[in-house]
Amino acid sequence: MEGVATIEYVVGDITEQEVDVIVNAANSSLLGGGGVDGAIHRKGGPDILAECRALRAGHYGGGLKTGQAVATTAGRLRARWVVHTVGPVWSATEDRSALLADCHHNALRLAAELGAGSIAFPAISTGIYRWPVEDAARIAREATKNAPVDLVRFVLFDQRTYEAFARP
Ligand code: APR
Repeated sequence: MEGVATIEYVVGDITEQEVDVIVNAANSSLLGGGGVDGAIHRKGGPDILAECRALRAGHYGGGLKTGQAVATTAGRLRARWVVHTVGPVWSATEDRSALLADCHHNALRLAAELGAGSIAFPAISTGIYRWPVEDAARIAREATKNAPVDLVRFVLFDQRTYEAFARP
């Protein structure tokens, strides 16, 4: 992937972002959850879940695998698409970093295929999936270098996560 994306870091709520793609930190069921996932479905409305259900009824009958990404409508959000990706659950005994990088690479590739110019990422895996924030930030920053879009915005929910991501 080649590009010269501008990378931004902001403290905020990802569901408020006005970008082409909002990335959801989903789970393999694609049928909703807490955290970012819950917020996206709450604010985006039922059309997102309807498309997720259709995906599960079709090509994604077994669910979405960790590290993979799939797009749906963004419903009532101020975005054109939600790209759902499944981050790895943190493990102290197994290095799953490549899967966390895959989430970013696959979301970016899908965004570019859709013709998106801008994309907002949350801090994937750092909530319910317990990935240490500094390490997740390092992986996410590395994986979004040379992104094939114009703008990558990391939307961090609290100051501590923001500082981990925005630190030079
Ligand atoms: N905007 C931006 N960031 C948010 C928001 C929001 N509205 N809500 C939560 N966050 C932050 C969390 O504080 C955390 O830093 O997003 C990061 C990721 O947290 P989670 O949403 O818990 O995602 P993850 O750790 O990848 O766990 C995924 O949680 O919601 C379920 O269905 C989802 O089972 C899956 C799991």
